[in-house]
Amino acid sequence: MKRVGFLCGFFFLLFTNLAQAEKKFVSFPKTFRWCVATAAHQIEGGNTKSDWWQWEQEAGHIANDDKSGRAIDHWNRVPQDTALLKYLGVNTYRLSVEWAKVEPEEGVFDQEVLTHYREEVDLLLAKGIEPMITLIHYTLPQWVAEKGSWEWDGIVPAFERFTERVFEGIGANKVLFWLTFNEPMGILMGGYSVGLIPPGLKKNMDLERPLTNMLSAHAVAYHTLHRLALQNGQAIQVGIAEHLRVYQPWLSHDPLADALARKTAEVGNWTFLNAADTGILKLNVPLQVNINKKIPQLRKTQDFVGINYYRRCVVGYQCTPPFINIEGSGGNPLSDNGWEIYPEGIAQVIQETSRRFPGLHQFITENGIADAQDANRTQYMKDHLYHVARMIEEGHPVRGYCFWTLTDNFEWLDGYKTRFGLFETDVTTLKRKPRPSVEFFRYIIARNGFHYP
Ligand code: FCB
Repeated sequence: MKRVGFLCGFFFLLFTNLAQAEKKFVSFPKTFRWCVATAAHQIEGGNTKSDWWQWEQEAGHIANDDKSGRAIDHWNRVPQDTALLKYLGVNTYRLSVEWAKVEPEEGVFDQEVLTHYREEVDLLLAKGIEPMITLIHYTLPQWVAEKGSWEWDGIVPAFERFTERVFEGIGANKVLFWLTFNEPMGILMGGYSVGLIPPGLKKNMDLERPLTNMLSAHAVAYHTLHRLALQNGQAIQVGIAEHLRVYQPWLSHDPLADALARKTAEVGNWTFLNAADTGILKLNVPLQVNINKKIPQLRKTQDFVGINYYRRCVVGYQCTPPFINIEGSGGNPLSDNGWEIYPEGIAQVIQETSRRFPGLHQFITENGIADAQDANRTQYMKDHLYHVARMIEEGHPVRGYCFWTLTDNFEWLDGYKTRFGLFETDVTTLKRKPRPSVEFFRYIIARNGFHYP
């Protein structure tokens, strides 16, 4: 009897070891930056002087007519939320600063707000977490909106001033990584073409003015940050976080769908990043728009490329308006908000970024999933990170990975409906509770890798 037990134990160990042996240990470089990303308006609360605050007041704009309100009150819970970052073990934290709080009225800078951000940065640094700061994550001050948002030419010098104040307010030599914009093409298309987000304009492709001002604002902020950093003998890195989707034709042999998919990717993914590289804004959509212009000081104004990757979109067409459909999915499971889960896509956008911008570092500035039940988050993270590691092994210069996001929060048009947080957050009690995937993320970070599949 004893012998049978011994043999069973032996075979059990043998089989489990064999199963483990088939798994590969996927590892990351020693200097890899493990990060979580957030945005001020989505978590802080009380962003009353912003254009989004106004936008939320009108019925029909946000799912369930939710309002950001106090959001998840991060403003008053910075130490607690920093403790969550520490618990995860990340060495980098991507956060944004809110222009509408820093400069609630034109030319009036709120010193207390700047001090608040400085203290947040100091706390992160004291905990060994490197901050990465985004200057524009969708929102603008309401006073800027009243002057015409990105269509107001005065926004460029105003943004330059704001950038200076933030750099000085936070204190020199503290922040290594800066992002001027989060998803600039999302702001442009959402705000000026389809009108779903502020300022809610529907101008089709008549986008030259806001796009020019956004690019000029990026350029002045890039140079301002470098100038100020240099005065302090600091070398910083400044980039843009762009939403890069994989656009694929619905049938591989359909030339029309193929052309539409390529054009959609060219416009939606690459317009802004290409312009920041070449210094020339090129936007061409037959019968709609043809812009080809040089923007002063814009050339080579990104030190790394920030990649926000979430999904694949399958592109097809139909005989009825709007004739083109760019929101299809390719048959994989969908997340809670209907985005197709397509992990290989992260490798495709990394490869394409390397092809277009050889020599530039890359940073995954966002990747995550709406998953209230946490049914797929661990697998999602594993599969995407597997492809990131594969790309690094092939020589693509990906320096870090930010998971979106720390806690459930105000998810723009979806309000509080979709749940992207590693920590489940009760919007009434504001209690944060770890979802099971928290432990997996900690495990990966602690070992700088994981077994796969
Ligand atoms: C990205 C946004 C971020 C969040 C995630 C889910 O496109 O940058 O603020 O909304 O989607």
